Amino acid sequence: MVESAIKTIAPEVGAQDVVADLEEVRARTHRLVGHLGAAELERVHSPIMSPLVWDLAHIAAYEDLWLAHRHAGVPLLRPDLAAVYDAFETPRAIRGDVELLDTAATLAHMAQVRERVRSLTLEAGVGDGTLHEMVLRHELQHTETMLQTLSIAGLLPPEWPQGPSLPAGMEAGPEWLELEAGSFEMGAGGAGKAGSVDFAYDNERRRHRVALDAFRIARLPVSNAQWRQFRDQGGYERREWWSDAGWAWLQELESAADPRAGLGEDGAPACHLSFHEAQAMATSRGARLPSEAEWECAATTAALAGVGEVWEWTSSELRAYPGFVAHPYREYSEVFFDRGYRVLRGGSFAADRRVATRTFRNWDLPQRRQIFAGLRLATDL
Ligand code: AVJ
Ligand code: FE
Repeated sequence: MVESAIKTIAPEVGAQDVVADLEEVRARTHRLVGHLGAAELERVHSPIMSPLVWDLAHIAAYEDLWLAHRHAGVPLLRPDLAAVYDAFETPRAIRGDVELLDTAATLAHMAQVRERVRSLTLEAGVGDGTLHEMVLRHELQHTETMLQTLSIAGLLPPEWPQGPSLPAGMEAGPEWLELEAGSFEMGAGGAGKAGSVDFAYDNERRRHRVALDAFRIARLPVSNAQWRQFRDQGGYERREWWSDAGWAWLQELESAADPRAGLGEDGAPACHLSFHEAQAMATSRGARLPSEAEWECAATTAALAGVGEVWEWTSSELRAYPGFVAHPYREYSEVFFDRGYRVLRGGSFAADRRVATRTFRNWDLPQRRQIFAGLRLATDL
């Protein structure tokens, strides 16, 4: 995972620091696409991904909506663009068909929104800091989405990591960590109320006590070598290792595995696996996926190693925690609850640590493998 150069906004931090953080994130965004021409930015590289110019203008539209319009109370800069760059009104599947701003207009729009937000923020302040932190993390999350698109297209920035790796010296150690039965506090602490800036997404709250049976969890994520063994031992042909849904999904595919799966060093975490593949892989080794509660418990109380290289599929469906309240925008997580999305934990080499905390809940559909995702094994004890 990329070490964040910036710390989460601290209570005493003022508008100037927030603006500086926003600028640093923006510089990173531009570095990601600096090596690309207009054609590469405007093309649809994959039917399940947006053209990169859509992500860029969406980042700006989101910033204008939340920081200029909602926070500072001024009208949208370009109300005519609101629908096109709204994720729900213009879903991914049609982003290649609608008229988008071209590259030059996109970059100009980003700069104009930023200039307005910069002066409004310095004038009006950041309030409790929540909306600015949310907008900053939104940009960091979209840059990971853009890196997924770039990876599919073979266009990752040359100076960027090209895939997950295992930090040196980490291979030595026990295969399994054992956790005794007990309970722990799950979710983000702090109230997230006005005057505090202990930012967490609404879906990480409320913090609540969860009881767990004893379990074992692997110290490291499943490696490329282990995944190649699964594939070479008939992993994609052995019905008994697959769930019904996973097997049905597999029959519809043109090629069993993602072409990028298993590439890279033996010990590096396996990447570009769907939930279905992760589940089959775990079953083939007499194990299972951890639940997200098990993952969070282990990540906060035990020495999990290699966290933050690949997102780790859990067995859990995305649901609200007890006492959930949507805040500040309903479309972030509430509309995804109880719709078959599976939770991923940890972070990836393409994720910024400021987003990928130990309580952060990522999610995707069980068939998706464009994301930088692998797995960690668990078993009952
Ligand atoms: C939390 C990564 C699943 O990309 O759909 C970006 C993040 N939400 N814009 C997504 C998000 C709104 C979200 N994930
Ligand atoms: Fe978004």
